[in-house]
Amino acid sequence: MLFPLYVFDAYGTLFDVHSAVARHRDFLGPSAERLSQLWRAKQLEYSWTRSLMGAYRDFDALTRDALDFAAASLGGIPAGAREKLLGAYETLDAYADAAPVLAALRAKGAKCAILSNGTPRALERAVRSAGLADFLDDSLSVDALKIFKTAPAVYEMACARYGLPPEKISFQSSNRWDVAGATKFGFRTCWINRTGAPDEYADLPPARVAASLSALVEE
Ligand code: LAC
Repeated sequence: MLFPLYVFDAYGTLFDVHSAVARHRDFLGPSAERLSQLWRAKQLEYSWTRSLMGAYRDFDALTRDALDFAAASLGGIPAGAREKLLGAYETLDAYADAAPVLAALRAKGAKCAILSNGTPRALERAVRSAGLADFLDDSLSVDALKIFKTAPAVYEMACARYGLPPEKISFQSSNRWDVAGATKFGFRTCWINRTGAPDEYADLPPARVAASLSALVEE
């Protein structure tokens, strides 16, 4: 079944957040993998804690704060690595399935949009550098609301922009916590479980689980 609107999480779903560290793996040494995991985990933790506190700082700032913490936790990173990694984060690789799936959905007549914690500037840069600009109708950023996912107001942005009720919108994310928030809000949800992670949030299940975005063009 074709939905009129497909909304995509950005980081982890369209863009590979670990591609920043991967590009500089040799330079970073044996702790590269742990650095990437901790960087991402802290970035997300800050988004949730700051939303609960009402102490918003934009996602670019959280990305820097999280990298600094992760680097310090691992005993520091080589000189120049901070700038290299933050630069790479602005031009992350898109997953190979992103462009063909967006193109196929739009060829069938659906609209495709990003809904992300990222700042408008970072999203624009990432979309352009990954070559996805021609396949997207919109990038919606939480920055307009100054609160992060999983606040319901964030998901509501897509309904308001397109004049659609939640059940007419298919929402895709590789982040299971984001899928839980979107399910609670009322979207039709698809968990893109790229890593074969175990399920969680059992009371807020996705309508679909798939290993890649390609499943969306096959339904
Ligand atoms: C985003 C984060 C959650 O793009 O990955 O919103």
